Amino acid sequence: MLNRTEPILLRSCAELQRWSDRTRALGRRIALVPTMGALHEGHLSLVQAGYRVADRVIVSIFVNPTQFGPSEDFARYPRDLARDLESLRKVGTDIVFTPSVEEMYPSGDATWVSVERLANGLCGRSRPGHFRGVTTVVARLLLAARPHVAIFGEKDYQQLAVIRRMVHDLRFGVEILGGPIVREPDGLAMSSRNEFLSPRARQQATALNAALHEARALVRAGVRDAALVVSTARERIEKEPLAEIDYVELVDADTLESVRDVSGRALLAVAVRFEGTRLIDNSLLETSSGWEVG
Ligand code: PAJ
Repeated sequence: MLNRTEPILLRSCAELQRWSDRTRALGRRIALVPTMGALHEGHLSLVQAGYRVADRVIVSIFVNPTQFGPSEDFARYPRDLARDLESLRKVGTDIVFTPSVEEMYPSGDATWVSVERLANGLCGRSRPGHFRGVTTVVARLLLAARPHVAIFGEKDYQQLAVIRRMVHDLRFGVEILGGPIVREPDGLAMSSRNEFLSPRARQQATALNAALHEARALVRAGVRDAALVVSTARERIEKEPLAEIDYVELVDADTLESVRDVSGRALLAVAVRFEGTRLIDNSLLETSSGWEVG
């Protein structure tokens, strides 16, 4: 276990900017891991990745209202700072930034950041305005934290792609790193929303990873027809009585546009509701470089 000192808790952007400027002046490299709290091993893996590439790590915990639709779970999203701080103790953290909604969106505020195209399909289609909320808050967090590097999980693959695009287009001068998906022992991708699942839904939710697994096996066996890969994955998920599919799509891993054939870097992305809780997962289906992970 690391023996880092307790994190400093900051709640204002101005304080965070001052800390960051001082830390940069000392020649230290800073990593930022943005989160909405309810931290699990997936989040902690990103903090650990932060310490591999930087000297200081900032974790932000902010349930961002602008990325939730009116009928979504903003109000009931889990919030437990004491538990999050306890989790962070396992990996160490220099700064925990927990701004209020008023701090991130002061009254009179009228500025949005939005990325076109990449944000339109997949989750963008079923959650209108979601990515505009994500890019707006991430832009604000990057400007407050002024990190050298910011780290995001590949579990939210589209989010990572949209943020990379924004940072590149607006020349934020921040390196963006992706961390691999961390899973429960039975394969379910870790998510703060997993705690909403009833035992029955929790059990059926393993179908997402099982479907990705079947798709990879097909591609390994030489199948290149995207429609066949998608229908196999769909059928696996549809075996679960509680599963309501939002989408199962095979897209180009860079443009996120639908593909007809599996070639080069293709991504299979799925979103499924169980008793109202929406879960997402994805897997690269690579054909070019030999064996995929099974
Ligand atoms: P949140 O859902 O809390 O996730 C914070 C970060 O953890 C994201 O980069 C997400 O991709 C990553 N993550 C979540 N589950 C993971 C898993 N099982 N394995 C690896 N990484 C995982 O994503 C958000 O918050 C918000 O949209 C945010 C970027 C903070 C903007 O509000």
